[in-house]
Amino acid sequence: MKLENIVPWGRNLSEYRSMFLLSDLELRSKIVGCGDGPASFNAEVTALGGIVVSVDPLYRFSKMQIVKRIDEVADEVLEQVKQNEKDFVWHTIPSPDALYTLRMEAMQQFLDDYEEGKKEGRYIEGALPDFSFEENQFDLALSSHFLFLYSEHLDEAFHLCAIEEMLRIAKEARIFPLVTLEGDLSPHLEGIMEVLEEEGYDIEVMSTAYEFQQGGDKMLKIRRKEG
Ligand SMILES: C[S@@+](CC[C@H](N)C(=O)[O-])C[C@H]1O[C@@H](n2cnc3c(N)ncnc32)[C@H](O)[C@@H]1O
Repeated sequence: MKLENIVPWGRNLSEYRSMFLLSDLELRSKIVGCGDGPASFNAEVTALGGIVVSVDPLYRFSKMQIVKRIDEVADEVLEQVKQNEKDFVWHTIPSPDALYTLRMEAMQQFLDDYEEGKKEGRYIEGALPDFSFEENQFDLALSSHFLFLYSEHLDEAFHLCAIEEMLRIAKEARIFPLVTLEGDLSPHLEGIMEVLEEEGYDIEVMSTAYEFQQGGDKMLKIRRKEG
């Protein structure tokens, strides 16, 4: 699978808040979303007056091309979720049909904002581990459902470079979830944490209230040690 062909399937602000334990104050900081895809996070935070720049290879496509891709894959994704229903936690989201509605609403909100956001420089085509931002340009770098999730496709060296890039452009990085597509803890996590600790970062694995993939309720928070 080519990673840039990952099925477009976006989450909303409420989900980002829970996954990353984002406070109101943090939502008012300068945030870079690494691999935001068709999530409505950027659109919703912007509407609240916040500052989010989203970077994703998907943004090389036009709105119409993204609409077409979502149309092509949405029913298939719903079918796959129904077939693997037991791998997910149906608390906050009660059923596959409710999930489908939630995702389609989030993606519509993204699509409604996409062209304006591109003009404003809020949706930028780019790919980890090489972003073209200045050092410390952001307060917070977020990665939802990209790093660790695709551990079978992306090796530990890629993960380390990607996280170091997030920490070059932002003071703090947060990554969710820490499990793979199969729901296992990422085989890269332990090694990555060891290296980052050696490099002098403060690292915390935090429990969140967000659990949709069974066992996928943890977030990794990394920041430079003070002083
Ligand atoms: C499963 S989607 C998650 C979308 C969004 N973050 C969310 O949680 O709703 C994964 C995203 O990673 C993006 N992606 C793939 N390769 C990437 C890379 N090298 N750097 C950044 N994003 C990448 C894909 O285009 C896709 O939009």
